[in-house]
Amino acid sequence: MFDTSYTAAPGRYEAMPYRRCGASGVLIPAVSLGLWQNFGTDAPMERIREIAHFAFDRGICHFDLANNYGPLPGAAEENFGRLLQDSFKPYRDELFISSKAGYLMWPGPYGEWGSRKYLMASLDQSLKRMKLDYVDLFYTHRFDPVTPIEETMQALVDIVRQGKALYVGVSRYPDAAAKKAYDYLRESKTPCLLFQDRYNIIDRWPEKDGLLDMARDNGSGFISFSPLQQGLLTSRYLDGVPAGSRMSRSGTSLPEKILTPTLLEALRGLNDLAQQRGQTLAQMSLSWLLADPRVTSVLVGASSVAQLKENLGALENIHFTEEELAAIERLSLPVQIHQH
Ligand SMILES: NC(=O)c1ccc[n+]([C@@H]2O[C@H](COP(=O)([O-])OP(=O)(O)OC[C@H]3O[C@@H](n4cnc5c(N)ncnc54)[C@H](OP(=O)(O)O)[C@@H]3O)[C@@H](O)[C@H]2O)c1
Repeated sequence: MFDTSYTAAPGRYEAMPYRRCGASGVLIPAVSLGLWQNFGTDAPMERIREIAHFAFDRGICHFDLANNYGPLPGAAEENFGRLLQDSFKPYRDELFISSKAGYLMWPGPYGEWGSRKYLMASLDQSLKRMKLDYVDLFYTHRFDPVTPIEETMQALVDIVRQGKALYVGVSRYPDAAAKKAYDYLRESKTPCLLFQDRYNIIDRWPEKDGLLDMARDNGSGFISFSPLQQGLLTSRYLDGVPAGSRMSRSGTSLPEKILTPTLLEALRGLNDLAQQRGQTLAQMSLSWLLADPRVTSVLVGASSVAQLKENLGALENIHFTEEELAAIERLSLPVQIHQH
C-alpha cells in the first residue's frame, strides 16, 4: 500500500540555507541527500519513504542518485520512482534530482565507463526507472581513461539538447581531465554545474590536487560526497562496530581494517573538540565543510531519520575559531585516508 496522503510541510524552506552552484542560476540546499546506500532492496519502503519525506519537509530538495545505486543496481532509482509517484509528484518542480552513469550497469562493452553509447542508453534507463521525463542534473560518474574526453562531454551536451537533463556535472575526474571537461563544456555553452568528489576532514584529496579551487575558478559548484567518510566521522564507531552499521555489513564499502587504533584515537579527539563546540562529531564534520565557501553542499547518506535530523543540526553553527581549525588540522592530518 502506498501512502498517497503525503503533504509537504508548509515551512519547509524556512531553516535551510540555499547556495548557488558556481556562476549558475541554480541554488541547492546546503545539505543534500544521497541514495547510494539504504534506498535499494536493503531497506523497507516504509523507511525509505520516512527518510525522504523528512528530508523534503526540512528543505532538502536535492536528491542524488546514480544508475547503479542499490542494491541491486537500479533499485534506488526504482524506489525513488515509486516515491515520486506516491508522494512527490505534485512537487516535481521543487525537486532537484541528479543521476549519473559511469560504473558497471550491464554486461558487454557498452555497460560502463564514458562512451556516448553507454551514457545515452543509461540515462534512458534511469528515466524509465524513475518515471521521469528529465533529470535536473546528469553526471559522468567517473573518468574514463580510454574514451576521448570530447566524446563523453559531447554526449553530455547532446543530452541537455535532447531535454533529458537540464544541467551536466562531472564526478571523480583527476585534475587534468577535469580541466579539459570544464573547458569543453564551457565552449559548448553547457557549463559544468557541479563537480562531485569525496571531501571531508579525513580525506583532503580535492584540496591537495586543486579540484576545489578549480571548480570555483571555472564557475562550477562543488558538492562533497561521503562528507562523514561513510559514518567514520560520527559517533557510530567510537565504541566498537555496531550491528547493522555500514562497517558491519559484509562486502561493505567501508572495510573494518580502515579503523586502525591511530584513526580511532584521532576520531575521539575530534569528538571531544565537537563536544566543546556544543556539537556532535557528525555535526562538526559537516559544519567544517560548509564553512568553506568553495563547498556548495554536503551530500550526506542516512539510514534513519534520527541520523538526518542530527546532521541538519550542523547548520546551527558553521563558524570556527582559529584555534578550533588548528586543532582539527593537528588531529586529522596525520590520519588522512583516500579511498578510490
Ligand atoms: N560520485 C561518487 O562516486 C559517489 C561515491 C559515493 C557517494 N556518493 C554520493 O554521496 C552520498 C553520500 O555518501 P555516503 O553515504 O558515503 O555519505 P556519508 O554521509 O559520509 O555516510 C552516510 C552513512 O554514515 C552513517 N551516518 C550518517 N549520519 C550519521 C549520524 N548522525 N550518526 C551515526 N551515523 C551516521 C550512516 O551509516 P549506517 O549505515 O552505518 O547507519 C550513513 O548511511 C551517496 O548517497 C551518493 O549520493 C557519490
